[in-house]
Formats: sequence, structure tokens, C-alpha cells
Amino acid sequence: MEQGKILIAEDNDLNRETLAQLLAEDGYKIKTVVDGREGIEAFLEDKFDLVITDLRMPNVDGLEFLKYIKQTNRDNLVIMITGHGTINSAVEAMQLGAFDFITKPIKDDLVKLSVNRAISFAKLRSENISLKEHLKEKQTFDKLIGYSDCMKKVFDTIEKVSSSDSTILIEGESGTGKELVARAIHFKSDRNCQPMIAVNCGAIPEDLLESELFGHEKGAFTGAIRNRMGRFELAQGGTIFLDEIGDMSPALQVKVLRVIQEKQFERIGGIKTINADVRIIAATNQNLEKAVAEKRFREDLFYRINVIPIHLPALRERGSDILILANHFLMNFNKLKKKNVKRIANEAVTYLKQYPWPGNVRELQNLIEMIVVMKEEGEICVEDLPPKFHNIQKTRENSSNIDITDEGINFNDYVNQFEKNLLMKALKMSGGVKNRAAKLLSLNRTTLVEKLKRLDIGDGWVE
Ligand SMILES: Nc1ncnc2c1ncn2[C@@H]1O[C@H](COP(=O)(O)OP(=O)(O)OP(=O)(O)O)[C@@H](O)[C@H]1O
Ligand SMILES: [Mg+2]
Repeated sequence: MEQGKILIAEDNDLNRETLAQLLAEDGYKIKTVVDGREGIEAFLEDKFDLVITDLRMPNVDGLEFLKYIKQTNRDNLVIMITGHGTINSAVEAMQLGAFDFITKPIKDDLVKLSVNRAISFAKLRSENISLKEHLKEKQTFDKLIGYSDCMKKVFDTIEKVSSSDSTILIEGESGTGKELVARAIHFKSDRNCQPMIAVNCGAIPEDLLESELFGHEKGAFTGAIRNRMGRFELAQGGTIFLDEIGDMSPALQVKVLRVIQEKQFERIGGIKTINADVRIIAATNQNLEKAVAEKRFREDLFYRINVIPIHLPALRERGSDILILANHFLMNFNKLKKKNVKRIANEAVTYLKQYPWPGNVRELQNLIEMIVVMKEEGEICVEDLPPKFHNIQKTRENSSNIDITDEGINFNDYVNQFEKNLLMKALKMSGGVKNRAAKLLSLNRTTLVEKLKRLDIGDGWVE
């Protein structure tokens, strides 16, 4: 591993070479110069983690060189070498911002110590800076964006409910920002110094979810080889985010209901009752009321979690946000990927606005990332958009070519004909295999079959 790059400015040949050799042994990359003037030149040409400079040198002396360095790059570290009887200059050097000074005659171990200290300091500082930058980047990514009326309402609700401990239910299609909203609520709440723990109830197999949520004691079931805390315990004092709560089994729904009502639970196989000081935010992309009506979701739990409902509209319902979000992602990805893709051309904006965005904000974010990765600079134009955007546009253009005569036309006939054409085309492409045709049109197979029947498209196609 490279240790760091050091510039040594010293007019005395013996001292300079000894110092260079000593530090090269420790793995540092060394550049040597014979006075301050050469030092300035080297400093302008290259980047150094540390500069070691003698005080008394011809042309430009050590103090002048130090001043130059500090004016050019305040953070660059400098160690000053001072001779006998120049203690005042050493003090001056420190006042001017030198990191340390070494007195002559040079002692090997003292030099090494001072250099190591300086280099570790420089490394720590640069790590710290990049960490801060990373955090800043993350924060800009985590920012909730939206100016449409419906999003303003959502922001309003977030402001109002954050400080309360009420349970919140966030509903919305996939990719509409449910998790981002949950995080915003947590970070605006008094619990923000404690963790927010997310559990995706739909992604964890049913038999594991209970132990994930509540933890278990050693020996509670086969495979429980040690005690384990569940997510409710890990979220103590903070927030638990129960994502896709609609997918939770009825047996677990009862247990979660108890935590909400009694604020208590036990680990699986445990006898100790644990108090749950946890705020619950749940999210779903299902219609939970319908799930209640169909007896897939407990009514009592629904009312307990639905204390404050937040509905996140689909992206297609907030057209005015599309461009704002696209530009926000463009700016972020430019920064992240060090690109310079300037703007979205007007025609491309029209395409973006006409697209139905089934994957919502996540789909838009992925699209902009893909384009920024593929492009270096210039504008985002229609050619950069995938075929599905062009298809939508074609459909629009085709339908706008239909003339409505004075006698009027039969709307249903036209629509039926259009659907029929699409279905026939997809069936042809899939060699008549209905499953494949349904996939091509993003339809369920049953929906496709229903349509074929309704539109009287003859059978004889392969199953
Ligand atoms: N209003 C917004 N402003 C900025 N970024 C957003 C916004 N809404 C969503 N995003 C971004 O879109 C992506 C999807 O958001 P998130 O994961 O919160 O959606 P979700 O509703 O939880 O989706 P799923 O149901 O698929 O889990 C994230 O990267 C998020 O940062
Ligand atoms: Mg989510």
C-alpha cells in the first residue's frame, strides 16, 4: 500500500539525501528539491501529503515557502527543519501553520515519529472529509421532493405527525416513496437519535418472520442455538417500519396487535415480558380495506394501524413532479458519477410526461441513472429513452390521427379495434402462446383470455 507522498526541500546535500533515504525505507514516495523556489515549482506540479522544508535555504527560504503553501492550500501539512539557535523561527513557523518542527542535528526516530503523525493525521482528515461528503450525498438522495398539491399535503401531514407517537399507515403503489416517507417521519421525530428498524414482512418467509420480529431464546425451536433479539427489541426507543404489512400471516397479525395494544411482547420461548417503547409505521401497496373485507387482514389490526393514514399518489397522478424529480436525479447522478449531462430536452420531457410510470419514482430514478451512465455530456433527448417510451408516443400519435366526423364515431368500436390489433400482434409475436403474449402486454393471463373472449378473437392459439 502506498504510504504517502513527501516533498523534501533542503539545500544541504547530505541532509537531503539522508532524510530521503530514511523515509523511503518506510515506504514513502519521495521527491527532493534544493531550495524553496524549486519547492514551489514541484508543489505546483504535483500533490504531496506532506512537505518537509529546511528553514535556511537560498533563493526562497523555508518560511516563505511555508507561507506560499499555506496560501495555496491551507490544509497541506508542512514540517519545518530548524537549525541551532533558530527557535524564534520555529515558533514563527508554527504560527504560520506548520504541523511540526524538527531540530538539527536530525535524529532518525524523531523524524519518523513526526512524519508518521503528520501522515496519519492527513489520512484521517481526508477520510473524514469523504465521509462527510458521502453523508451529504446520501442526504440529498434521501430528500423528499415534490411540489404537486398532493405531495404538499403529504409533507404537511409528515410535519404534523412526526412528533406524536401515533401509529401511521403509509399506502401507495410500489416505488412511490413509502420507505422514504417513513424515514422522514422518524428523522423529524424525537426518536431520531434511536434507530429506525425496517422489516419487509413480504420478503421474510412466514415461519422466520415471528422470530425476526420478536426474537427467541436459545432452544426455543430447532436451530435456535443462542438467544437472539428481534427487531422490536432492536428498535427500542426508536421506530419500527413494518413494510408490506398486508403480507403478514393472520397468526402474526394477532401478535403485532398485542404489541400495539399492550406495548409488550415476549421472545419466542421466553418467559420474560419485554416492554416495547417503539413507534410503529406500517406500509402497504395493497388495498388493506379490501383485504379486510375479504378477511385476509384482521379488522381490529387495520383500525389500530390506520390511526394516521398517508396516501402516496402514483407518479402518473402528479405529472408536475415528473420533471422536478427527473432533474433532481439528474443532478445527483451527475455528481455521483462525475458526468456532465446538462438537461432534458423539451421533446424528451413530453415523452416522460406521457409515460404511465408503473414503477413510479423508483422507475424514474433508475431511468435517469441508466441514461447518465451511458452518456458523458449533452442533453437527454428522445433517442436516449428506451423503446417503451417511443411506443406510448406512437400510440398517442396514431389516435390523434383518427378523425371524428360531424356525425360522430363509435368510441367503443374504435377502442375495441385498437385492443384487438394489440392482442393479435402480441399473439403473433409469441407464436400464439397466451402466457407469453400476456407478458408482452403486461397483462395477467386471465385478463388476456377474458379480452380474447370479449373481442371474439378465435381460439386455436397454442396454450
Ligand atoms: N418524493 C421523492 N423524492 C425523491 N426521491 C424519491 C421520492 N419518492 C421516492 N423516491 C426515491 O425512489 C425510490 C423508491 O422509494 P421507496 O423505496 O421509498 O418506495 P416504496 O414505496 O417503499 O417502494 P416499494 O413498495 O417498492 O418498497 C427510492 O430510491 C427513493 O429515494
Ligand atoms: Mg418500500
